Amino acid sequence: MDKVKFTRIGFILATVGSAVGLGNIWKFPYMTGEYGGGAFVLVYLVTIFLIGMSMLIAEIFLGKHGDSDSVTVFEKVGNENKIPSLKYAGFLSFNGLIIMSFYSVVIGWILYYIWSAFNGLPNSIGEAEKYFNTMLRDEVVLQIGFHTFATLTVLHFVNGGIKKGIELLNNILIPLLILTLVSLLFYSMSFEAFSQSFDFLFSFNFDKLNSEAVVRAIGHSFFTVSLGMGAIMTYSASMPKSGKIVKSAMTIVFFDTFIALVAGLIIFTFLFQFGEEPAKGVGLAFISLPFIFSQMGEIGVYISLIFLFSLLMAGLTSSVSLVEPAVLYMENRLNVSRIKATFIMGGIYYFLGIIAILSYSGSWGEVFSIFGTPIFDILEKSSDMVLIPTFVIIIALTVGYGMRDHLSELREELGGTLFSIWLFSIRVITPIAILFFVLNLFGVIELG
Ligand code: PHE
Repeated sequence: MDKVKFTRIGFILATVGSAVGLGNIWKFPYMTGEYGGGAFVLVYLVTIFLIGMSMLIAEIFLGKHGDSDSVTVFEKVGNENKIPSLKYAGFLSFNGLIIMSFYSVVIGWILYYIWSAFNGLPNSIGEAEKYFNTMLRDEVVLQIGFHTFATLTVLHFVNGGIKKGIELLNNILIPLLILTLVSLLFYSMSFEAFSQSFDFLFSFNFDKLNSEAVVRAIGHSFFTVSLGMGAIMTYSASMPKSGKIVKSAMTIVFFDTFIALVAGLIIFTFLFQFGEEPAKGVGLAFISLPFIFSQMGEIGVYISLIFLFSLLMAGLTSSVSLVEPAVLYMENRLNVSRIKATFIMGGIYYFLGIIAILSYSGSWGEVFSIFGTPIFDILEKSSDMVLIPTFVIIIALTVGYGMRDHLSELREELGGTLFSIWLFSIRVITPIAILFFVLNLFGVIELG
C-alpha cells in the first residue's frame, strides 16, 4: 500500500506550522527585549541563515530519504553506511514529549487568559503581575484543566493522521495566523512608537551583547525552526516525492523569520507606546501586554483576544509536530493502533505537564523542584540546552560525513557551488557553533 503523503502545499503549511510557534510570538520578543534588541536579532538572523537553513535542508533530506519514523530512518542510514550505533539516535525525537510537557502548559495559560479577558483586563502593571503570579501559585486546578483541554485538542488532530489531522489543522490555521498577525502589524503601524520599535529591532547596538546573548540566540535559532527534534524529519517522510528540499527549507526559514519579526514589531510598538520597558522576560506576554491592552481603551479587549488567538494557533500547529514523531514510531514499530499510540504518548507528556504546573505552585513547588530549580525549568532547559543540540550535531555529522555517497538529490537541487557551501556548513560550521554553545554553557569560554 502506498504511504499517505501530504500535498505539496500541505507539506509547506505543516512544516511552517511546526516552525512558527510560541517560540516566535512569545519567546523571541521577550528574549530580544532581555538581550537588548538589534544586536541579538542580528546574531539570531545570522545563525538562522548560516546554520538553521543548512540544517533544515539536512533534516528534510534525511526524512525524505529515510521515508519513515525517525528511529527507523536512523537504523536505515546506519545500515546503509555501516554505522550501526546510529540506530539509537532516532530516539532523541522523543524529546518532543519533554517539550510538550511545558509547551502544553503554556498553551493552557493562553486559554486561561482568553477565558479571563472576558472579565476585563488588569488596570495597573502591579495588578497584571499579581494576576499572573496568582495563576501560577494558586490556580493549579484551573491550569490543569486548561492543560487537559489543550492536550485533548492536540491529540485529536494527531490521531487524525497526516491528512485528516495534521494537514487539515495547518491548512486552516496557518493562513489564518498569517492574516491575523499582518492585520495586527498594520494596526501597530498606526501608532507613533512603531518607528521606535523598528529601531529597537534593527539598529545593531553591540553594547548589550554578551556571550549569554549569543548562546541564547544560537539555541533559539534551532528551536524556532524546529530543528533537532525529529519533527521536520518526520513530516518530511510524508512529503510528496516531487517536493523540493531546498525550496521547502527556504520557505520555512522565510515564514518563521517573518513571523518572529512581525510579532516583535507589534509587541514593542505597544510597549513603547504605552511606556513600558522591553526587558520583561517570560512575563512579557502574560504581564506587560494584558496591562497595555487595558490602556488602549475599549478596543483593547479585542486586540488582546486577537493576539491570544494568534498565540494559540501558533502553539497548536507546533504541538502536533512535537507529538507526531513518537506516535509514528509506536505505530510503525510496536504495531500499536494510531489511537492507542496517540493516547500513550499524549499521556506521558500530559503527566509531565502536571508536574511542571505543580513545580511552580505555592503548595507543591518545593516537592517538585530539584536543587531549588522547578521541574518546569529543568524540562525546558534540558531540551533546549542538551537534547536539541545533541540531535542537531548527530544529524549534521550523519548527513555531512556518513551519507556522502547519497547526496546526489541535493547536489542537483543546489548546484555545485551552493552544494559545497552547504556541505561545509553542516560539516564544519554547525559543529563548531554547537561546540561553542556547549563550552559557553559550561563556562569554559566566555565572550565579554
Ligand atoms: N518551532 C517551535 C516554536 O518556535 C517549537 C518546536 C520545536 C516545534 C521543535 C517542533 C519541534 O515554538
